[in-house]
Order: sequence, then C-alpha cells, then structure tokens
Amino acid sequence: MRFEDRKITLKDGRTCVLTPNSPEYAEQMLEYLKVTSGETDFLLRNPDEVKYTLEEEKEILQSLLDNPYVIMMAAIVEGKVAGNGSVSGIGDKRKIQHRCSMAIALYKEYWGLGIGSAMIGYMSELAKQIGWKQMDLEVVAENEKAQRLYEKCGFIATGRRHNALRSDDGTCHDEILMYKDL
Ligand SMILES: CC(C)(COP(=O)(O)OP(=O)(O)OC[C@H]1O[C@@H](n2cnc3c(N)ncnc32)[C@H](O)[C@@H]1OP(=O)(O)O)[C@@H](O)C(=O)NCCC(=O)NCCS
Repeated sequence: MRFEDRKITLKDGRTCVLTPNSPEYAEQMLEYLKVTSGETDFLLRNPDEVKYTLEEEKEILQSLLDNPYVIMMAAIVEGKVAGNGSVSGIGDKRKIQHRCSMAIALYKEYWGLGIGSAMIGYMSELAKQIGWKQMDLEVVAENEKAQRLYEKCGFIATGRRHNALRSDDGTCHDEILMYKDL
C-alpha cells in the first residue's frame, strides 16, 4: 500500500525516511535480502534462498505496493535501504480477518539507532487504519534484543513453538509467539 513518508532523526543525528517500498529499490532489496539473512541466524531465509531475478523482484514490489492490505516499509538512510518491515493479513477467512502479522530486519550497521522502534510505531498506526485489531509476530527464542524491542513497542509473549526453525547444521530453535492489540 501507499502511505506518506515519515522522516525520523536517528540516535547518531542522521535522517532516516520511512517510505513505501517500491520497484525503484528492487536491486537494493535483492542485496539486502542476501546480506541481512547472512548477518544473523534469527531470520527465516538463508542467503542461498534469495533467487529472484531483478525483474521478478520489481514485479513483487509493485504488486505489494498496489495491495491495500500489505504494508512494505523501507527505511532509507542517505539514499540506501537500511532495512525493511512488512505487515500482512493472516488470511481472508472472517474469523481471522482481525489479525495481521509483522516482520522486520535491518542491516547490522543500522542496529541500535532507533529505526526498529520508529518502524514498528508507524506500521502499527497504518495497520490500525487498515482495520486490523491485532498484530502477531514470531521471534526466535534466543533473539532477546528483538524481544526487548517488541516489549517496548507493546507486544506481549503468549507462547512458544518447539523447534520451529532448523538450521543446515541440524540445530533447532524455538520461536516465541507475541501479539499486540492495535
Ligand atoms: C531487531 C531489530 C529490528 C531492532 O531494530 P533496531 O533499530 O536495532 O532497534 P532500536 O534501535 O529501535 O532499539 C529498540 C529497543 O531494542 C532494544 N535493543 C536495541 N539494541 C539492543 C541491544 N544491543 N541489547 C539489548 N536490547 C537492545 C532496546 O530495548 C531498545 O530500546 P531503547 O533504545 O529504548 O533502549 C534489528 O536489530 C534487526 O534487524 N536485527 C536483525 C534481524 C532481526 O532479528 N529481526 C527480528 C526478527 S523477529
């Protein structure tokens, strides 16, 4: 969906723009997906699972931009994609239409500057405007930093999914389930 840009000032004084992700960022997004998934073990994707061509990525970003029920938010610092956040509905059945799901990841060099908090705040406002009543997320149990951020943003832990993720070396990780009323 389209939404207004929001400018924020980072802890190091730089300006960051929160803006709808779009095909103009396709090339940067392919790089972002590959690099960020290699910088932490806490994301779902492995770097070798980023297989889209530039054209495919442009089409995906265009269709997400045109979809009024998907928020794709890029954080831009000095012209560069620093991170991306997304929110989408859980499903179209009436009993679950009130719920959306959120995900976020930044390049490591931009961690700890306040971008995550600002993005979650803005995505929550937009999700409420769309009409969702509840935002859900899953976070790897060992990812305590992200859990502190989510708690600060109003999320509450409700449960744990056993061995939700399995790495190539066979190690498994539980996920913590969290939600927030919008
Ligand atoms: C998790 C992530 C999105 C957080 O974004 P961020 O911009 O670094 O977070 P912020 O700078 O807004 O910090 C928000 C809060 O997170 C917590 N936090 C941030 N850095 C922390 C650290 N090193 N240790 C502990 N808590 C920390 C604090 O509660 C902080 O609040 P404060 O600034 O008032 O102290 C980002 O670090 C990231 O992309 N990590 C890798 C991918 C990932 O784990 N994604 C989440 C998957 S569920």
